[in-house]
Amino acid sequence: MIPLTLAEIAAATGGELVGGEPASTVTGRVEFDSRLVGPGGLFAAFPGARVDGHDFADAAVRAGAVAVLGTRPVAAPTIVVADPLAAMGALARAVVDRLPNLTIVGVTGSSGKTSTKDLIAQLLVRLGPTVAPAGSFNNELGLPHTVLRADEATRFLVLEMGARGLRHIEYLCQIAPPRVGVVLNVGVAHIGEFGSVDAIAQAKGELVEALGPDGVAVLNADDERVAAMASRTRARVVTVGESPAAQVRAADVRLDERGRAEYTLVSGDVRVPVRLELSGRHQVGNSLAAAAVALSQGMPLAELGPGLSDLRLVSTRRMDVYDRADGVTVIDDSYNANPASTAAALQALAAIGQGRRRIAVLGYLAELGERERAGHEEVGRLAAELGVDRIVVVGAGAGPIHDGAMAVGQWGGVSVQVSGQDEAVALLRAELRPGDVVLVKGSRYRTWDVADALRQDGAVELRTGVTA
Ligand SMILES: Nc1ncnc2c1ncn2[C@@H]1O[C@H](COP(=O)(O)OP(=O)(O)O)[C@@H](O)[C@H]1O
Ligand SMILES: [Mg+2]
Repeated sequence: MIPLTLAEIAAATGGELVGGEPASTVTGRVEFDSRLVGPGGLFAAFPGARVDGHDFADAAVRAGAVAVLGTRPVAAPTIVVADPLAAMGALARAVVDRLPNLTIVGVTGSSGKTSTKDLIAQLLVRLGPTVAPAGSFNNELGLPHTVLRADEATRFLVLEMGARGLRHIEYLCQIAPPRVGVVLNVGVAHIGEFGSVDAIAQAKGELVEALGPDGVAVLNADDERVAAMASRTRARVVTVGESPAAQVRAADVRLDERGRAEYTLVSGDVRVPVRLELSGRHQVGNSLAAAAVALSQGMPLAELGPGLSDLRLVSTRRMDVYDRADGVTVIDDSYNANPASTAAALQALAAIGQGRRRIAVLGYLAELGERERAGHEEVGRLAAELGVDRIVVVGAGAGPIHDGAMAVGQWGGVSVQVSGQDEAVALLRAELRPGDVVLVKGSRYRTWDVADALRQDGAVELRTGVTA
């Protein structure tokens, strides 16, 4: 964090400094995990359901924390606040206000926020020092945590913005007012909490509503709910996508045998050949969004081709494609799943698995609410229609995937249901043979163990899209 005195931090958070020198200065990072605190840092103590952060204040101070931000005084200088979460947000905003040359880029959407955030950061760092979170960090805790890492040297701050309800993104934009806002898509992720797809569109659009007239809204022309957000912003709109109307457009998209896309990026009358190292067709749209952000910040078109070719996977378990020494190719997309991202992953499996046996290990898709049954059935149907040879449905909750696949009349494949991840691993160990391509996809911990077991079972020989 930029150096701030305890008095300044207390003022920014509306807190009261207890037992410390107002002029003591925090120069290190702000952390809510005491194990990550370093010299000069600030430890934010949260009263949790299972553990109380205040109990770790000692450890944080031993690790070098100058003070603690918490709800009650501890045996160290404490800035006492009523609500540490709100205090993190307020402190982050105070830091942003002290960094007038910082350009903030916000990314939202139902799928692909983390992937695209990583791509944007990789392009922008070519233009200047860039801060972006590792992984998701997209909520009212993770976002201020990332903001607090910015300092005078930072030129770009790339933030992922998630929402589980209306006005969540509005709040995040108050903490970190974006200059550039990217909306990827409106799908059914978290529909259980939102109630309807229109409510999700309403919530995602809060990002472009927060932009000023000097801002840039990057909108996906291929998603009509996103394209319609043009009317909700004062900012300049840049549309991206494959539809002819898109201002930054991908034409002639092809996938190679690793599911990597090649396309021609068209912007005005300029055409740039692009060859991605990343697997999955959805990376076409994600990379276009990243390209549009970079162009809006002054990246020359000539640099864009190499910039896009150099993009690599940063966050794990997202379309991580690798060959094992035994000849099995694994597509680890086990980080999270919803119907749209599962469709994208199945398409990648179909592309990568041409002429090979294609196996899809599919777990429960969380947060579908009323669409739970239909959403799972659609996934099963699509897998069968794309010619997946074997579907392994993991866990009772994912059962309708099996039903959806079995309902496809002409399908020549097989679907098996297993009770859980251990059974899935045992089945795969017994059945996998050289040449097979296996996709692992599900909502978080529902299939992670399967992906990990496949990784441990075979030495990784060749991994695409990853920096060594
Ligand atoms: N534009 C996209 N459309 C559909 N699925 C996508 C897209 N981008 C990434 N995915 C897939 O969605 C899953 C979640 O990706 P991630 O980047 O972590 O998204 P988020 O941060 O929005 O949850 C991964 O399986 C990834 O391969
Ligand atoms: Mg994410």
